Amino acid sequence: MSNRLEAVVADIVEGIRGALMKHDVTFDEYRQGIGYIMKTVEAGELPLMIDAFLNTTICQIENRNFGGSTSTLEGPYFLDDAPFVEGALKTYEDDRHEPLLLRGRVLDLAGAPVADAIIDVWHSTPDGHYGGFHNNIPRDFYRGKLRTDAAGGYEVRTTVPVAYKIPDQGPVGALLEAMGRHSWRPAHVHYKVRAPGFHTLTTQAYFEGGEYVDSDCCEGVHSELIHADVRESGIKVIETDFELAPALAHA
Ligand code: DHB
Ligand code: FE
Repeated sequence: MSNRLEAVVADIVEGIRGALMKHDVTFDEYRQGIGYIMKTVEAGELPLMIDAFLNTTICQIENRNFGGSTSTLEGPYFLDDAPFVEGALKTYEDDRHEPLLLRGRVLDLAGAPVADAIIDVWHSTPDGHYGGFHNNIPRDFYRGKLRTDAAGGYEVRTTVPVAYKIPDQGPVGALLEAMGRHSWRPAHVHYKVRAPGFHTLTTQAYFEGGEYVDSDCCEGVHSELIHADVRESGIKVIETDFELAPALAHA
């Protein structure tokens, strides 16, 4: 059997060596780089740094290896114990909250409806925070599980999310800034779609024309996940059909 670990690690090292050579990196810069990585570890931001640069690549590999709808980042704010909801996610009610209707169908690769699929939906508050993680927002706010009907359909009301800033006060924010980038993700809605016999789909929806759609700090935007500004009776609607690929035989 081939040694997959050896093969992957050797190629990672080879890739890094190539970049160092290409840019004539000096010993001084090399030491600074090690110092930076140490600071990132001490600040507890190593997972954030790796996710910001590489998670989207892992999603692209998924997309290459499975059919069905495009998958993208899960991010750090999925909670598997989110409750089932009927009609609407729990949200705060105030003037800033613009209503949003999410609906669509879950289908197999042949276009047949998948009934009883479970869709986790989660997204930020209208001020860019996540329930259960920030500002004491209850963990069942702005998230919930939906179950598709016999026609594979789902529908839920919620509020429009806004752009989200990944933690920017530590080494990762400093690096992005020094690179001339920023720490913002465009406004997005997260989905995780699960059904027996199918490969789980983790994806997001983005808003056409939204700030940072063209410069996501985590590079998780795919053009087919960007939604036009559709309104029904003045209410914003994101209609998304999810196509599920079959699960791997051994999965
Ligand atoms: C991060 C946050 C998100 O909301 C997301 O969708 C992806 C990544 C983050 O903080 O890394
Ligand atoms: Fe997110």
